[in-house]
Amino acid sequence: GNPEAEIMLVGEGPGEQEDLQGIPFVGPAGKLLDDMLAVIDLDRKTNVYIANIVKCRPPGNRTPELSEAEACLPYLRAQFALIRPKIIVCLGATAARYIYDENVRITRDRGCWKQSKGVWILPTYHPAALLRDPRKKPETFEDLKGLQAKIREVCDHTY
Ligand code: URA
Repeated sequence: GNPEAEIMLVGEGPGEQEDLQGIPFVGPAGKLLDDMLAVIDLDRKTNVYIANIVKCRPPGNRTPELSEAEACLPYLRAQFALIRPKIIVCLGATAARYIYDENVRITRDRGCWKQSKGVWILPTYHPAALLRDPRKKPETFEDLKGLQAKIREVCDHTY
């Protein structure tokens, strides 16, 4: 993504394609993510920066373990410090749990904004969850509209 972006998205960890290419969200979930972002005029070349909780693919694509997330979190914190986003979108429960609250339940808490240290945080479904269960798409569309409204409120530029 663009390191000048005011909006940062955080996923769980690289999948197979991402691990091979060293770029986040380039597989099927990434294609859906790009399409979702385009609905509100966002794209990774211009106005978003995309990162993951863990930086290597866990074996068999399992959810990262606590020790793995803890090993990578200093890197993510350095990314936050460099990018200084105004808005962080947590894609799925793993991102939300490590970024702001270990007890997040994504079906319950998605769409509910948090503010921490002057940064607005929005949890929403992971795009891979939408591929598995398209019935989650309407709620995700609501979250995208909420994101668009927040961008208009707090961002200086979206390029
Ligand atoms: N899923 C993630 O959480 N991150 C990626 O980069 C790709 C798929």
